[in-house]
Amino acid sequence: MTDELVSAPLTEALLAHRQRDYAPFNVPGHKQGRGASPLLREALGQAFFDVDVPIFSGLQDTRQTEDLLGTAQALAAEAWGVDRAYFLVNGSSSGIHALVLAVARPGEDLIVPRNAHKSLHTALILSGARPVWIDSGSDPYWGAPLPASSDAVDASLRAHPGATGVVVGTPTWEGLCGDVAAIADVVHRRTEAPLVVDHAWGAALRFCEQLPPDAMAAGADACVVSIHKTLAGLTQAAMVLARGGRIDPGRLETAVGMTQTTSPMVPILASIDAVRAQMVADGERSWSRALESAASIRRSVAELDGFQCLGDECTGWPGVAAFEPTHVTITARDLGVSGWDLEKIVRGERAVALDLADDLNVVFLLSHGTTDEDVSRLLRALEDAAARARGLEGSAREAVPAALRRPPLPPQVLLPREAFYAQAKPLPLGASVGRVSAELLTPYPPGIPVLVPGERVTEEIVDYVTAALAQGVRIHGPHDATLRTVRVVADAGGD
Ligand SMILES: Cc1ncc(COP(=O)(O)O)c(C=O)c1O
Repeated sequence: MTDELVSAPLTEALLAHRQRDYAPFNVPGHKQGRGASPLLREALGQAFFDVDVPIFSGLQDTRQTEDLLGTAQALAAEAWGVDRAYFLVNGSSSGIHALVLAVARPGEDLIVPRNAHKSLHTALILSGARPVWIDSGSDPYWGAPLPASSDAVDASLRAHPGATGVVVGTPTWEGLCGDVAAIADVVHRRTEAPLVVDHAWGAALRFCEQLPPDAMAAGADACVVSIHKTLAGLTQAAMVLARGGRIDPGRLETAVGMTQTTSPMVPILASIDAVRAQMVADGERSWSRALESAASIRRSVAELDGFQCLGDECTGWPGVAAFEPTHVTITARDLGVSGWDLEKIVRGERAVALDLADDLNVVFLLSHGTTDEDVSRLLRALEDAAARARGLEGSAREAVPAALRRPPLPPQVLLPREAFYAQAKPLPLGASVGRVSAELLTPYPPGIPVLVPGERVTEEIVDYVTAALAQGVRIHGPHDATLRTVRVVADAGGD
């Protein structure tokens, strides 16, 4: 490890700027907090305003004489073992948009998982690519979406040899990891097209040998990583990583520029720089500790009657080559307790924040920042939930609501972009069966759309959405948030 790799030039420049105490005649208009709303200053603290400076004409002179961002990006590329790294201030979502824009032109085939995060579906609208879906479904017991298998990618490439790229997602929210090495092998044998990985949950994998392999080390041509999800970046911090020439570097750089603001928030950029230095210096040790904490939680949950914790047994499920154990997914469905019931006790009453709750499960995320005290609080909250679940009797202990099984994939009639730009009209949800959707319906969690523009609405989808709404699940994306109506593509006669 070189000293250079553990220094953080962008973060150090921010500290130096703060110490210099400039009289602010640049943006932002809060003038380092002097003009801030008192309420906002109380909520954020003065320190926040001290570091909210522009990158050009703030942190650096207007000509960017030092190119701090370029230096920090080069150090990140070296740390992740790739050719190029781009810092993003709008999350992996914007990186996925940039990668799809760089890879697929309008009408070109792009092999993509249907159970992808909604940002991939919106990227298809932006680029105009023709999605060739891989439908890998979900595990029937846990309901967790499964990653695409190398066999499925192989079959898809054989059927669509002209595909301009392949996108897969791994790890999943629950920590299921696809076999990127095998998929990269297939893609690189069959085509000149790139393999792009939605590695939003994979930012830490590079830094601890006990974690599953990192997508770029396993042979991907490009990926996105959310630095804010599993590492200590500020919310929105993410990166695009790329190597080789399968994706034109110039095109990728332009596409990244198109999807980012011209006024990036410097603390977000600095957090990526600092995280990289922190992980290079201490990733192995600190993530080993997180893995020990995850193992101790699993041992304790195994002692709780009726509670189960997803573990290594998932390795070997279709498409799953490894498991990332700092994703701790717990269910008490055998006690008739839903993930939402657990959330009420664990979060609502015991102030233990979780990352996802659905009809079946709750997901807790650990990281190198997880303390022993936090682990004890989590275990005490789960013990409380277990004691109370056992105490429920008879009719009070209702069965878990029928799991919201995702409906079969509907036929794709138009490209997502065609349907998005088509003339559309609202129809009552029930009357929309058989029509082509003009909008994206995404139940959150897990953020995977149940209907995308261009797909034909089916009865199963209407039933699924109706059941999800009845259980209080929020559906992101429709014009009518109540979903009394849904927008469908108007007939040629403009019906
Ligand atoms: C698999 C996956 N990809 C991409 C994203 C988007 O990441 P971000 O929130 O950093 O934009 C998410 C967010 O939850 C995700 O779960």
